[in-house]
Amino acid sequence: MEVPCIAVPRENGEESRQALAKAGVLDDDHQIVVDDGILYIPVTDVDSVPEQFETTVRELPTRRTVQTPADSLGYEPSLERLGDVVIVDEDDPDCAAEIAEAVMTSDLPARSVLNRASKIKGELRVRDWELLAERADSDEDTSRSPTETVHREYGHEFLLDLAAVYFSPRLATERHRVVDQIEPGEHVLDMFAGVGPFAIPAATQRADVVAVDLNETAIEYLRENASRNGVSDAITAISGDVREVANDYRGWADRLVMNLPHSANEFVETAVDLAGDDCVIHYYDIQHEDDPFGPGIEAIRAAAEPAYEVTVETEHVVKSYAPHELNVCLDVRLTRST
Ligand SMILES: C[S@@+](CC[C@H](N)C(=O)[O-])C[C@H]1O[C@@H](n2cnc3c(N)ncnc32)[C@H](O)[C@@H]1O
Repeated sequence: MEVPCIAVPRENGEESRQALAKAGVLDDDHQIVVDDGILYIPVTDVDSVPEQFETTVRELPTRRTVQTPADSLGYEPSLERLGDVVIVDEDDPDCAAEIAEAVMTSDLPARSVLNRASKIKGELRVRDWELLAERADSDEDTSRSPTETVHREYGHEFLLDLAAVYFSPRLATERHRVVDQIEPGEHVLDMFAGVGPFAIPAATQRADVVAVDLNETAIEYLRENASRNGVSDAITAISGDVREVANDYRGWADRLVMNLPHSANEFVETAVDLAGDDCVIHYYDIQHEDDPFGPGIEAIRAAAEPAYEVTVETEHVVKSYAPHELNVCLDVRLTRST
C-alpha cells in the first residue's frame, strides 16, 4: 500500500526520525525502508512534516514484526547489548557508522551506540569508547551520559558507566554459579568488586559482604546499586587497594571472590591473610588451554600451605578468552591446619 513518507539520505536517518518523532508525525504502523542509499520514513500527516523534508508516497510494508538493524543493513551485524547501550566492535569507520545508523532506525531500545576504541587496560580495567550515535528523545536521555546504563541480571539491576568502570554482561551465568553457593550469614569479601555484580547478589543471599575496589567511581556505583537492590545494610563498600584494606579484615572471610584475571596471582598472599579458618576462594585466571588450572593451584598452594590444607573443589572453564587461552575459575577451599 502506498503511504506518505519522507525521503532522506541514509546517513541522515536517525536525525530525521527524531525530528519527525518530535513533530508527532512518525508513522509507527509502517516500516522504514532503504532503497539505493535513500531512507523512506513513513509519516502520519504530510501537512505537519517539518518543512526541511521532501515528502513523497511509496509502497511501504506494514509493520508486522519488529524492525531489526539487519532489515536495513541486509546482513546480521555483530552487536552486544548492555541495558539501552548497543556495543559494536568495528575497525572500519564507515561500517561502524552504517551499523549505528541501522541500530538507531530499528526498533531496538537503544539510547546510544558505542564502538570499542581500546582494549581493557590499566589497573582499573576500563576501556576507551567511541560514541557512534546517541538518541535524545527525552530530558532523561540528555541528562545521562551515553555511556551510562542500567543492566539487569538474575533479578538485580546495576547502574554503571562503561567509560568509568569495568563491566561484562558475559559473566552473568558465572556470577550466578558462585552466588548460588553462598549460605546466609557467611562473611563474603569481594576483593575486586567493580559495581557489585557479585557483592550485591551475595548480600541478597543474606551474607555479610565487604566489597573492595581501587576504582572510586566503581565503589560509588556499587553503593548506588546496593541501594537500588535494597541491600545497603548488608554491604560495606570500600574504595582502595585490597592489599591495604586487608589489614582490617585479617582472618575474617568465609568466602573470597578474586575476579582479577591476569594478575590474581599477585594477590594470593592477601587472600590468605583475609581467609578465616575455613574459606572458599573463587580464583579467576586466564591461562593457556594446555594447562589452564595448574598455575593458579600452584600459586594458591605456595601462599597457603602449610598453614592451610588446600582442596581444589572445582576446576571450571568460564569462557574462551582468545585463541588457545581460557578464562577459568578455581573454587578452592582453605582449611586451617591443626
Ligand atoms: C575484572 S574487574 C572485575 C569487577 C567485578 N568483579 C565484575 O565482575 O564486574 C577487576 C576490578 O579490580 C579492581 N582492582 C584492580 N586492582 C585492585 C586492587 N589492588 N585492589 C582493589 N581493586 C582492584 C579494578 O578497579 C576493577 O574494577
